[in-house]
Amino acid sequence: MTLWGGRFDDALDDSVWALTASRTDRRLLAVDVAGSVAHVTALGSAGILPSKEVTEILTGLESIAAEVAAGGFEFTETDEDVHTAVERRLIELIGSVGGKLHTGRSRNDQIALDIRLYLLDSVVRLRTGIAGLMGSLVDVADRSGETVVPSYTHLQHAQAVPFAHHLLAHAWALSRDRGRFDDLVGRLKVSPLGAGAGGGSRLPLEPEVSAAHLGFDAVFTNSLDAVSSRDQAIEYAWCCTQTFVDLSRLAEEVVLWSSSEFSWMTLADRHSTGSSALPQKRNPDPAELIRGKAGSAIGRLTGLLSMMKALPLSYNRDMQEDKEHLFVLGDDLEHALAAMAGLIAGAAYHPNSPSGDVTALDLAEVLVERGVPFREAHEAVGRLVAARNSEGNTLQGAGFDELAAVHDAFQPGDQSLTDPTESVRARRSPGGGSFESVRVQIAALRTELELRS
Ligand code: ARG
Repeated sequence: MTLWGGRFDDALDDSVWALTASRTDRRLLAVDVAGSVAHVTALGSAGILPSKEVTEILTGLESIAAEVAAGGFEFTETDEDVHTAVERRLIELIGSVGGKLHTGRSRNDQIALDIRLYLLDSVVRLRTGIAGLMGSLVDVADRSGETVVPSYTHLQHAQAVPFAHHLLAHAWALSRDRGRFDDLVGRLKVSPLGAGAGGGSRLPLEPEVSAAHLGFDAVFTNSLDAVSSRDQAIEYAWCCTQTFVDLSRLAEEVVLWSSSEFSWMTLADRHSTGSSALPQKRNPDPAELIRGKAGSAIGRLTGLLSMMKALPLSYNRDMQEDKEHLFVLGDDLEHALAAMAGLIAGAAYHPNSPSGDVTALDLAEVLVERGVPFREAHEAVGRLVAARNSEGNTLQGAGFDELAAVHDAFQPGDQSLTDPTESVRARRSPGGGSFESVRVQIAALRTELELRS
């Protein structure tokens, strides 16, 4: 069934039907019915429909909601989209009064509403998923105690930091991702229902009544904007994609760390896969798949942006394409977050110590504390590194005499700082790679997540 046969004599060409009929939007069934309940309630409140008819329609919608909840709602081949299917079923159940459901409404404001309702629900699940992964990272960081690893820049050993500091860096990125979803909620909670086909209606609609019924904070103030904007959906897609990019960076490290070369972590059986050919293999497939899906997410975000970029106002059918992108993004991200949370929590960690040269900056800063210009200190420690390296040694284990040979401001005892763990113990800057900073971060993240230690 279509909702628009009146002015047409010929049936739709099969090829056009195949193009126009939407199957993907069936996932919107429950929210579509919820939106209709709110719409009919508002029609009753405004006196547009008599309460008897409102009650009949609501009873019909309740039956449909029950069918949906029980998984028993049946689509027919001829339902053009989810909105059509609900209206068709309503008329089957309660007769022609069901045809009044669409009073003062268009599929244009209806779909804009459905997407918002669907995304609001998805955001709740994704926030929970992000929190789960953050929790895994915080727990592993907490358990890693005073394990010290190299931090990297350019994938070269840079400074010594607590392993926890590195793990928590990923948790902070995820915390911002979660915050972005929070920010989005305010923009999703503006109801477009009542905008009709785009120009509004001569009927005295009360959009704020349906909005309040659905728990929205506000209603649209421009009906054309209400039916033609998809920036909220694109923002959701970006929030998903940015989270995917952050997940992908973590995934990349999982791949590196579980390699023979790094050998920092061993994945649990539950989170790694074997090779069909090589009996010895333990592959980090979940991490690789997440990294791969991040690429697809970028493609979907780009697809949505491209879909919108040249659309004149207001509604255009191009926008039907948004469903698959949004659904797949949300599904993939939810699975990826859960898989990564389990993988991080279940792995064994045995990171390597940093190279003995990573304390170079700490030694230079000792000189800086004594008034030596940083450039001069950098030069002196650089000479010490070169001297030690030329003998096949690193800075670690250099004696006081060697320090004194490159700068007279070094004092006996400074050589203890060539030990990476000692240099981490001496680190003081807020938010830096120190054990104290890690304690502060873990407490802050646990508070944010309301997690007990
Ligand atoms: N299925 C459409 C979509 O997903 C709903 C709106 C259709 N409106 C229209 N005038 N054809 O965007």
